[in-house]
Amino acid sequence: MEKLTLDDLSLAGLRVLVRADFNVPLGTDPEGRAQQSYVVTDDTRIRAALPTIRAIIGAGAKAILLSHLGRPKGRPDPKFSLAPVADRLSRLLDQRVRFVSDTLGPAVEKVIRSMPAGSVLLLENTRFFNEETQNEPAFAQRLAELGDVFVNDAFGTAHRAHASNVGVAGYVRLAAAGYLLAREVEHLIRVVKEPGHPFVALLGGAKVSDKIGVIRNLAGIVDTILVGGAMSYTFLKALGQPVGQSLVEDAWLEEARSMYECGKIRLPVDHVTSDAMGAVARVGRVSQTVEADRMGVDIGPDTVALFRGELLKARTIVWNGPMGIFENPDFAGGTRAMAEALGDATGLDATTIVGGGDSVAAIVQAGYADKVTHVSTGGGAMLACLEGRTLPGLAALTDRP
Ligand code: 3PG
Repeated sequence: MEKLTLDDLSLAGLRVLVRADFNVPLGTDPEGRAQQSYVVTDDTRIRAALPTIRAIIGAGAKAILLSHLGRPKGRPDPKFSLAPVADRLSRLLDQRVRFVSDTLGPAVEKVIRSMPAGSVLLLENTRFFNEETQNEPAFAQRLAELGDVFVNDAFGTAHRAHASNVGVAGYVRLAAAGYLLAREVEHLIRVVKEPGHPFVALLGGAKVSDKIGVIRNLAGIVDTILVGGAMSYTFLKALGQPVGQSLVEDAWLEEARSMYECGKIRLPVDHVTSDAMGAVARVGRVSQTVEADRMGVDIGPDTVALFRGELLKARTIVWNGPMGIFENPDFAGGTRAMAEALGDATGLDATTIVGGGDSVAAIVQAGYADKVTHVSTGGGAMLACLEGRTLPGLAALTDRP
C-alpha cells in the first residue's frame, strides 16, 4: 500500500475522524419496538467497519464517525437519518454510540470535548449538506477540524470525490486508510494487476451502459467475460438474435457489437422467460431464444452449465451483477447457481471476488459468502477498480514516506 494505513498512526488520546460507508438499507421496524421508525435491514457494511473502529477505541482515542446514507437532496430528511445506524453500531460494539443530529457545529464540538477516550460518536448524514457532494473546501475544512487525524474506511464511497472522504484529507495532518479500505483495495488492485489465468469475469445486471468501462478495461486483461442478466439482451439484439420484450438499451447496440469483437464475451444460450414482471409474473419457462411476446428473466440451464464449466477452469474470477430478476425467487436460479460455482471454484484454489448488492446478496443467501476469497462492500467502487480508474478516496490519503 503506497498510502498510510491505520497501523502507521499513534492514536492514543487523539480525536480520530473516521469516514465510514454506512449507506445501508433501512426498513420500518416490523415489531414496532425500535425507538426510531426505521431499522437497519442489512448491517454488512456496519460490521465491515468494526475492526477499524475497535482498533481506534482500543488505542485510547475518540472515534468520530462520518457517513452518508442514501441520496437526500442536500438538506435534512428523517428518512435518511443515521440514527438507526448508531443504534445498530451500539449493539455490535456492545458499547454506547453517541449520536448527534448534526454533522458539524457547536453541539457536535461540545459532545466531542466531553466524551471520554475510547468512546464513539456518530454524526448525522453528511449529505444533508449540498457542500458534501460539491466537495466544497470550507465545509471540508470544518469537518477536518473535528479531528486530529483522518481515517478513511469508506471503500464503498471511494469512487466519489466528496468533502467527507476527499476534501477533508487536505486539511488534516495525517490521512490514513482504515483496515477495510486497505483490504478491499489490495484485493481488487491485485486481481487487476497480477491475476492468475484463466481469468474470468462474470458480469450481469440490468445495464450494459453501467459496465462499458469495465468490459473495455477487462477485455485487455481477462481470458473470458461471461455476460448474463438483462445486459446480455443488448448484446444478443446487437448480434441479430430475437430478444422479445427483454430489457434492451438500444442506444448501446453499436457499442455492444464492437465490444463483442474482442472475442472473449460469452452470452447466454438459453433463457428463463416470463410474460410479465414482478408480483404478477408467471413461473418462467425455458427456451433457446426469447419469443416475441416474452422477456428474458434468468439464464437457462444450458447457460448455467456453460458458465459453470468456465468458472471451474478459472484461476481468478470477479463477479458483479445478477444473472436475472433475482428478487423473484422463480428467477433467482441462475444467480444462485453462479454463487455456488464461485464457491466451488474457490475450493479448487481460484481467487474469487464478488461485489455489488445483488451478487453479494445472492452469495449470502446461497450460504457461500465465506467460501469465496473476498466479498466486496463496494458496488460502484469495485467497478471503478475493475475499470482501472484511480479511486479519489484513496488518492487523497497521505503518501507513505
Ligand atoms: C454505494 O452504495 O455504492 C456507496 O455508498 C455510494 O453511494 P452513491 O452511489 O449514492 O454515491
